[in-house]
Amino acid sequence: MDAFCRLSCFYLVVILVTRAGHGAEVTYDGRSLIIDGQRKLLFSGSIHYPRSTPDMWPSLISKAKFGGLDVIESYVFWNLHEPQPGQYDFSGRLDIVRFIKEIQAQGLYACIRIGPFIESEWTYGGLPFWLHDVPGIVFRSDNEPFKFYMQNFTTKIVSLFKSEGLYAPQGGPIILQQIENEYQNVEKGFGDKGPPYVRWAAAMAVGLQTGVPWVMCKQDDAPDPVINACNGRKCGVTFVGPNSPNKPALWTENWTSFYQVYGDKTPLRSAEDIAFNVALFIARKNGSFINYYMYHGGTNFGRTASSYIITSYYDQAPLDEYGFLSQPKWGHLKDLHAAIKLCSHTILSGVATIATLGQQQEAYIYNGESGECAALLLNNDNATTVVVQFQNSSYELPSTSISILPDCKNVAFNTAKVTAQCNERLILPKLKFDSADQWSEFKEVVPTFDETTLRSNSLLEHMNTTKDRSDYLWYTVSVDSSETQPVLSVDSLGHVLHAFVNGAPAGSAHGTHNNPSFTLERTINLSQGLNNISLLSATVGLPDSGAYLERRALGLQRVTIEDKQGTKDLSNSSWGYQVGLLEESSAAQWSKFGASPQPLTWYKVLFDAPEGDDPLSLNLGSMGKGEAWINGQSIGRYWVSFPTADGSPSQTWYHIPRSFLQPKGNQLVLFEEESGNPLQITIGSVSRNKECALVSNSNLLHVNSSKNHKRNS
Ligand SMILES: *[C@@H]1O[C@H](CO)[C@@H](O)[C@H](O)[C@H]1NC(C)=O
Ligand SMILES: *[C@@H]1O[C@H](CO)[C@@H](O)[C@H](O)[C@H]1NC(C)=O
Ligand SMILES: *[C@@H]1O[C@H](CO)[C@@H](O)[C@H](O)[C@H]1NC(C)=O
Ligand SMILES: *[C@@H]1O[C@H](CO)[C@@H](O)[C@H](O)[C@H]1NC(C)=O
Ligand SMILES: *[C@@H]1O[C@H](CO)[C@@H](O)[C@H](O)[C@H]1NC(C)=O
Ligand SMILES: *[C@@H]1O[C@H](CO)[C@@H](O)[C@H](O)[C@H]1NC(C)=O
Ligand SMILES: *[C@@H]1O[C@H](CO)[C@@H](O)[C@H](O)[C@H]1NC(C)=O
Ligand SMILES: *[C@@H]1O[C@H](CO)[C@@H](O)[C@H](O)[C@H]1NC(C)=O
Ligand SMILES: *[C@@H]1O[C@H](CO)[C@@H](O)[C@H](O)[C@H]1NC(C)=O
Ligand SMILES: *[C@@H]1O[C@H](CO)[C@@H](O)[C@H](O)[C@H]1NC(C)=O
Repeated sequence: MDAFCRLSCFYLVVILVTRAGHGAEVTYDGRSLIIDGQRKLLFSGSIHYPRSTPDMWPSLISKAKFGGLDVIESYVFWNLHEPQPGQYDFSGRLDIVRFIKEIQAQGLYACIRIGPFIESEWTYGGLPFWLHDVPGIVFRSDNEPFKFYMQNFTTKIVSLFKSEGLYAPQGGPIILQQIENEYQNVEKGFGDKGPPYVRWAAAMAVGLQTGVPWVMCKQDDAPDPVINACNGRKCGVTFVGPNSPNKPALWTENWTSFYQVYGDKTPLRSAEDIAFNVALFIARKNGSFINYYMYHGGTNFGRTASSYIITSYYDQAPLDEYGFLSQPKWGHLKDLHAAIKLCSHTILSGVATIATLGQQQEAYIYNGESGECAALLLNNDNATTVVVQFQNSSYELPSTSISILPDCKNVAFNTAKVTAQCNERLILPKLKFDSADQWSEFKEVVPTFDETTLRSNSLLEHMNTTKDRSDYLWYTVSVDSSETQPVLSVDSLGHVLHAFVNGAPAGSAHGTHNNPSFTLERTINLSQGLNNISLLSATVGLPDSGAYLERRALGLQRVTIEDKQGTKDLSNSSWGYQVGLLEESSAAQWSKFGASPQPLTWYKVLFDAPEGDDPLSLNLGSMGKGEAWINGQSIGRYWVSFPTADGSPSQTWYHIPRSFLQPKGNQLVLFEEESGNPLQITIGSVSRNKECALVSNSNLLHVNSSKNHKRNS
């Protein structure tokens, strides 16, 4: 089928589906999405259902709605939904139907980005690890095995949505969906297997006949009728535009801050900068759909974070990790949305003209048929506040700002003037665990070669050996030495290594997000005769991006021992392997807490839930690196010992969702790889001081008061 035919067939399908149901027809043209015959300027926000808990969803969605959003966006998380081929899980945090129905119950639309490759700082970019072992597979390419499983899962999800009546033409909330994800970033790497895959993915998605449009983000040549959408911080500057005059300008990821990796400081993006770029996208690019990535980031529970990504996700978003309004960001964007909504009809249906107001100042003016007028006044000068003349009045425009005049006279909002008050997170101490009597511990046994059953005369690739059932893989070897203090050298492709010689710690090393590979080099003590070398390799999330993900390798690459006689390469010695840890196989023998901290130790303590409904957080500032569980549910990895440039940890506090707790007798379990002091662990209740949090709401009622920035000349 050529593009034109696909486009016409697509519209035919839309019309047929709409006539049959009682829902809303969703189409688009060069200006905007059109829902039920009405043009829409839509504000959307990303909230990923598995990154929070079902009891948090209603409140998150309601705060998003109150913040002026029209749409909630989420990816679909294939690796969680299909842990084994053909075995599906949609329970608990994975209940995507419940999530979408909650969006609908609150009167919002949904944009579902199926992917099913999603990247998203999510382990393996959301692909289930079993795909790795499908014979002949090449991910995200014109490759039959990959296309089979991608189509299989996409069909499964679309059928589920259809059977639940979730698409807009059926009366449901879904108005937009995405296939693939930022493929243009990797397409060149696939050579002539790239373009046919893009065409196939688009045709496959459109062929599922959902009745709502599909987008591909960061894919300038998205085939008709799929809409190419922009991702980035500054789509108002960078977007090349829709690839057809019949497609609207959509911004699928407006980054509200950025994801954080271990060793990085918290990334900040100001409310003013976000608001400016949103208004610029509307003015300069005719933007009609803006999605904040993330509106609520949440928590990378369990082992879901990708390589070196911290457990807290986009805590700087308008709703913070715990679901509180983060001010002034939430309020400033709410004010922006309200100001744009005052004139969105005029913006979408009026005739647009651009007037020059100065060297770096412009007016975007929209004139409606019945005399309405709206204007956006841009000052693109990043250093100077200027006063401009616009339609016989003077306006003061701060540097890098846009003023919104819904009536071409009064300033409803300026992106650089934040009237929403700020607030701060408060964490009140609730529980201490400073008595050794409370704790039990279990020291993980360091396996030796003789105790292993899996053997190879080479260094096995880490992920292929663990199948991602665990972060941990033991490499053990037995070494005969003539010298007592040789140098052990281990090259690893990532991510972390703890070395043990005859059961005693002999050094640790790790890579970083940008450079996962590293070398550990240590002088070790050997005894005469045979010695046991045990090397614990750990992953910190699987990679989530780049071409040929299935070929990526981690774990040990080369092991040598150097003494006066020379260098002995052990890489092809006889190696014994153990996948995972003992406790993971429930063989743990717990004992009383021992005062001297040792590596590879499990800790366990019981506690009653603090009173109240406030979310809780675990302070792991006294610990090193590991993972924490509450009543058997992992709240994520922690890595407090990986310092930022200024020496502090990237993340000290770890979210304990209320729903993970029962009133009494909760169990906290930690696995500590390095060494830490559990007696200093505390649990606090989280809130925000909210004395001024709602000031911006009342401001909106006063946009026509003397407080605005208009001056009569
Ligand atoms: C998807 O694949 C599974 C086996 O992995 C199979 O049982 C199922 O029928 C397939 N579904 C579709 C829609 O092809
Ligand atoms: C996305 O929003 C941020 C604010 O979070 C803004 O600075 C940025 O310019 C926006 N990105 C685009 C592509 O407009
Ligand atoms: C925006 O739309 C106007 C027509 O209303 C058009 O003249 C202009 O070229 C469009 N701008 C962009 C960047 O597409
Ligand atoms: C301000 O703009 C000038 C010229 O356009 C540019 O060189 C400079 O980097 C900008 N400064 C900032 C802080 O963006
Ligand atoms: C501006 O002033 C001139 C002369 O006083 C008048 O003709 C014009 O209509 C005014 N324009 C607006 C937009 O008020
Ligand atoms: C993965 O392991 C299997 C044996 O379990 C082996 O046949 C295959 O070559 C390995 N693949 C990689 C990429 O190491
Ligand atoms: C090796 O043995 C020496 C002397 O017994 C001791 O000082 C040193 O700490 C040991 N090194 C390691 C890595 O165990
Ligand atoms: C190495 O491990 C074996 C058990 O697997 C043990 O019998 C032996 O004593 C160990 N060797 C040393 C030097 O610790
Ligand atoms: C180990 O074996 C591999 C494959 O047989 C070979 O390519 C490599 O050169 C060997 N390395 C050493 C150090 O012997
Ligand atoms: C502004 O408010 C005054 C009364 O406070 C009202 O007379 C006037 O019409 C309002 N202007 C606009 C543009 O809403």
